Amino acid sequence: MCGIVGYVGNRNAYDILIKGLHRLEYRGYDSAGVALVSPSGKLNVYKSRGKVSNLEDYCKDKDTTGGTGIAHTRWATHGEPSDRNAHPHFSEDEEIALVHNGTIENYKVLKDALIQNGCKFQSETDTEVLVQLIEYIRTHNDCSLLDAVKEALKQVVGAYAIAVIEKNNPDTIIAARKSSPLVIGIGEGEMFLASDATPIVEYTKDVVYVKDNEIAVVSKTEPLKLINLNNEETKVDVKTLQLSISQLEKGGYPHFMLKEIFEQPSTLRDCIRGRVTEEGKKIIISGVLDSKEKFLNAKRIIIVACGTSWHASLIGKYLIQDMCRIPVEVEYASEFRYSNPVLDDRDVVIAVSQSGETADTLAAIQMAHEAGAYVYGISNVVGSSIPRNTDSGTYIHVGPEIGVASTKAFTGQVMVLTLLAMAIAELKGSMPKEELDKIGEEILKIPEYVKQTLELNDQIERLSLIFTYAHNFLYLGRGYSYPVALEGALKLKEISYIHAEGYPAAEMKHGPIALIDAEMPTVIIAPNDHLYEKIVNNVQQVKARHGSVIAIVSEGDKEIKNIADHVIEVPDVPECLTPIITSVPLQLLSYYIAINKGKDVDMPRNLAKSVTVE
Ligand code: F6R
Repeated sequence: MCGIVGYVGNRNAYDILIKGLHRLEYRGYDSAGVALVSPSGKLNVYKSRGKVSNLEDYCKDKDTTGGTGIAHTRWATHGEPSDRNAHPHFSEDEEIALVHNGTIENYKVLKDALIQNGCKFQSETDTEVLVQLIEYIRTHNDCSLLDAVKEALKQVVGAYAIAVIEKNNPDTIIAARKSSPLVIGIGEGEMFLASDATPIVEYTKDVVYVKDNEIAVVSKTEPLKLINLNNEETKVDVKTLQLSISQLEKGGYPHFMLKEIFEQPSTLRDCIRGRVTEEGKKIIISGVLDSKEKFLNAKRIIIVACGTSWHASLIGKYLIQDMCRIPVEVEYASEFRYSNPVLDDRDVVIAVSQSGETADTLAAIQMAHEAGAYVYGISNVVGSSIPRNTDSGTYIHVGPEIGVASTKAFTGQVMVLTLLAMAIAELKGSMPKEELDKIGEEILKIPEYVKQTLELNDQIERLSLIFTYAHNFLYLGRGYSYPVALEGALKLKEISYIHAEGYPAAEMKHGPIALIDAEMPTVIIAPNDHLYEKIVNNVQQVKARHGSVIAIVSEGDKEIKNIADHVIEVPDVPECLTPIITSVPLQLLSYYIAINKGKDVDMPRNLAKSVTVE
């Protein structure tokens, strides 16, 4: 979703800002813009609908000089994607310019009041209200930009990360955050700010994660200063970034998505490292031992997540129920938060999120805290909001995921949930130790099994050609393979724009079976598990209606091989580990179908990587 970049220092801000916007492209956006204070004291704002490259074209003959600037990629919420609605927004007197990520919920009330006081608006955005309000306060109270921002934010209801610059004070950016991410990079005589660390990492590793309700004075000449809305100084806590530039580049692959699919043997190795002893006999997962009593006494575990993370969470439910015999509910965070949930201090809530910034998941966490539940977070982005707002938790450690369609984060989440279930099961004694040890041994081999699965790449690429022009797909699975079916369907939908539905295989006969004909491919996930014989029946039912079946089976499969039209054989692993293996060919299938259709797999239309608004 919207991305913010800012720079103040002695270099040419425009170059740094444009590079930063490119780094943030993965978040998803539909327009871009930049504001610069020129050495002659002008505040120049340039913006353009579409890609950052459009903005660059537009700026070719413009004055892009100056050492201070802010920039933005916008994902439309209030007002269509257009040059006018793109950020930065000017105040009416063009003295200040502002970029914003988030939504101002009470913008209508504020706007009406400002209009009554004579303000004129240029755009349909909620953001313009903020810049006009700040400028109104600044000019009417004759106060500094910092004081005006502080006063304006007291009136605002909603979520924001903002950066504001002022024509007459070119060495400073005022930034602030509430519920939307903001990171500040500290260099020598220069500072950077951004929605995440990706635009900053090539300049400095010293960063400060701004907290909710903090305002930052980001200056070229003064050390970073943070204050709260009551004007009290807060602590500047400098962290060291664990991120490298090579992780943000394609490394020879045509797309980030393909790179990330192929990275999975190593990301899973990183995810397991230090958590499973050499022989697989001990599982160590952070936050579990410290909160042992919470997990052991939990009357119920509720997992909250969105999208792909929700699919991983559903696998987590099966794992925890199977291994720990604790009742588990899995909730879409967006539904959970408005469902008046019954929660108390005997509940453990697990929040799963790649970005660690999903607004609905954060809101669900807050509700859980308010009800007294213990909250455990699983995320990928170090320093993001979810790890900072949970009682304990762990990272999946799969490195930055840039492709909008989640792949390596999904398998990382499933792996961490598996390890979490095993750690709790061991503490609880709910599963024989020998069985846990056996799974532990197999977990150590998972990176190798995933590598073998990736060797099916060419077969899957060929297969994709047969199905590129299908209009609909059905994905079926049972047990652990049901969430894999949901995830396979989501991957196809989001990058190829083909309608696909994931379904529990046995539920097919209660409705979706009516869709089956020779035109509609059905992908059936049927590894070697305790439901294998059952799913053989489901394959027969599709075939009896002349459906075309692509089956994902385990090596050594005997029956489905003879009935399905196309078979992808993956390594045979214990049932609870099958999702990590069977999801990989589905990622590749979606990727190649989308490529065959000429789609932009890394930045699919309308989608955002980090969903920081409701
Ligand atoms: C799909 C995808 C999304 C995310 C969802 C939640 O490929 O990536 O469905 O899973 O937006 O995002 P996080 O995990 O960052 O909370």
